[in-house]
Amino acid sequence: MTKRVVLAYSGGLDTSVAVHWLQAQLGYEVIAVAVDVGQGADLEAVRERALGTGAVEAVVIDAREELARDFAVPALQANALYESRYPLVSALSRPVIVRHLVAEARRHGATAVAHGCTGKGNDQVRFEVGTRALAPDLDIVAPVRVWGMSREDAIAYAERHGVPITASREKIYSIDENLWGRAIECGIIEDPWATPPEDVYARTLETAAGPVEVTIGFEAGVPVSLDGKQLDIVSLVGQLDALVGSTGFGRIDIVENRRVGIKSREVYEAPAALALVLAHQDLEGLTLERDVAHEKLRLEPRWAELVYDGLWYSPLREALSAFIASTQRHVTGEVRLRFSPGGGCSVVGRRSPVGLYDYGLATYDAADAFNHEDAEGFVRIFGLGITTWAARQGAAGGGGAGAAGGEHA
Ligand code: ARG
Repeated sequence: MTKRVVLAYSGGLDTSVAVHWLQAQLGYEVIAVAVDVGQGADLEAVRERALGTGAVEAVVIDAREELARDFAVPALQANALYESRYPLVSALSRPVIVRHLVAEARRHGATAVAHGCTGKGNDQVRFEVGTRALAPDLDIVAPVRVWGMSREDAIAYAERHGVPITASREKIYSIDENLWGRAIECGIIEDPWATPPEDVYARTLETAAGPVEVTIGFEAGVPVSLDGKQLDIVSLVGQLDALVGSTGFGRIDIVENRRVGIKSREVYEAPAALALVLAHQDLEGLTLERDVAHEKLRLEPRWAELVYDGLWYSPLREALSAFIASTQRHVTGEVRLRFSPGGGCSVVGRRSPVGLYDYGLATYDAADAFNHEDAEGFVRIFGLGITTWAARQGAAGGGGAGAAGGEHA
């Protein structure tokens, strides 16, 4: 029996050439798997192209809901922003794709999994570490990393072997897109000083005439409604993305540290993801107990780092997710966001039926449930250590904290 490989197929130049190459060079039968993560491509056409290129099977899987529910929502609950900025768009879709590659490998009796990543990026790490975590017995093949062809060479290869491609010689950007956002690389933006030209953007084009206000409803840390209308998670993310993207909100322009040690200039568009994180962080401010909130803030960057690094399927990511999940029980309520023309956004209100905000405790007005006399003893004991320390400074002839710190009047 001919050995089989399952290829993560996008329909682009590299994976199309890979279908041919895996057969011609390595003698594999190729099963092409195209996963719909909300990239907005015509995947039926992509499937046809895979078959036209010689794949023995071509499978299209709609994983949008799975990506949203099992990956994007946990990322939102972790307020996950890698290096404080990047909402992990590509890093979230790879583990979903891996899950399906492994399942298809089992279904079709394949012994290997292949992907079209280069050796310079994070996505190879995510594909391979993920695959090894779920199926350590499968081989991994990365044609683009070994075939030594430039983009020009790959186009020539396709022409030579009758591989149908839609790529043109002057493709400028490398785009990776899903429902959580859009990543743009290559071309002029490889110069970190260069302003990204308008043509890199697709989801943050400013078309709204004035400011936009939107109310996002959460139940136990899951976004469930927009402006009071209940929506399934895929529709909610899609509608919110279009709505707030139309104010120009959602652009990110950073120099990012890849796992492989390369700094790279990245441009992203993630209107819904960024709006949801803002709203969710704010609702946590209202609903999480102080120590839980502070501990969670410490763990969030670690969660984002692990997922960025391709360690979705790892015991630490799972353990941190268990902590985060347990904090979300009462993250229920609504947050009002206001988007101003030009891409600005602020939270302008929040409310929760289970919030910990107590008007009677917080108010400076007369209606007051707070016992002011309790504060005197509390503050004295809170500061007792400092008072004792300061008294010693005085006894030693120093004269308090300023003297101890070497400060002079
Ligand atoms: N730097 C981002 C990340 O590592 C974006 C990667 C985009 N991937 C791509 N194949 N163009 O998550």
